[in-house]
Amino acid sequence: MRKKIVAGNWKMNNDLNQTISLIEELKKNHFNEVSVMIAPSSPFSKIAADLLENSPIEVIAQNIHQKSNGAYTGEVSCDMLKSIGILTTLIGHSERRAYFNEDDFVLLEKVKFAIDSGMNIIFCFGEQLKDRKSNKHFDIVKSQLENTVLKLNSESWKNIILAYEPVWAIGTGETASPEQAQEMHEFVRSCISKSYGDIISDEISILYGGSVKPSNAIEIFSKKDVDGGLIGGASLNAFDFSEIIKANK
Ligand code: 13P
Repeated sequence: MRKKIVAGNWKMNNDLNQTISLIEELKKNHFNEVSVMIAPSSPFSKIAADLLENSPIEVIAQNIHQKSNGAYTGEVSCDMLKSIGILTTLIGHSERRAYFNEDDFVLLEKVKFAIDSGMNIIFCFGEQLKDRKSNKHFDIVKSQLENTVLKLNSESWKNIILAYEPVWAIGTGETASPEQAQEMHEFVRSCISKSYGDIISDEISILYGGSVKPSNAIEIFSKKDVDGGLIGGASLNAFDFSEIIKANK
């Protein structure tokens, strides 16, 4: 059975007080059938993990560095995260690709390092608007995956969650239609199946991200290859985020 997951990526939002009060609001809910994750900004990872110590809500990281330690000013290592109980990280978010020049080569290093360190990853990928307009979205996604996660051995796949985030839908209010999400997720699953077989491809959770809101979540999550969502803006509001989680039935 594939896991149903809803993860909130808070990006560079929320100060200490806002982080605490959002977590306290979320804790009031009981999300039974869905794995819920939140990715606060790194200064607040530890306090978030402490606040959620006895809660099923998992605190995850937004990014990791691909080296174990050393002179890498401003970076956060897998060991640091593990030492505060954080065992999952996003890798490959389009904002990391666009603003921090993370290309497939670096992302493969990060993916390998995180998995070798015993962490789980949510690997993000997705095409830009120009790719979709020129009907290259399947080719782009295929190459993003072939250059990174599809290079891993089959054993690694138990540590992987995928997140399809079309760049044109992130923070724009324009979401992929449920049909567009479904056809891409199905395509991705078929790529995994070709490399690793049906057992692995059937087990992988593939999340959709890009302007998911309470008003569109039910329809998107109802698609058979969509196992949940990676939520940006709407995850900053406890009510909206909870409604989105509840929509993942
Ligand atoms: P929005 O939900 O704000 O479009 O962001 C999606 C996202 O980038 C999650 O990682």
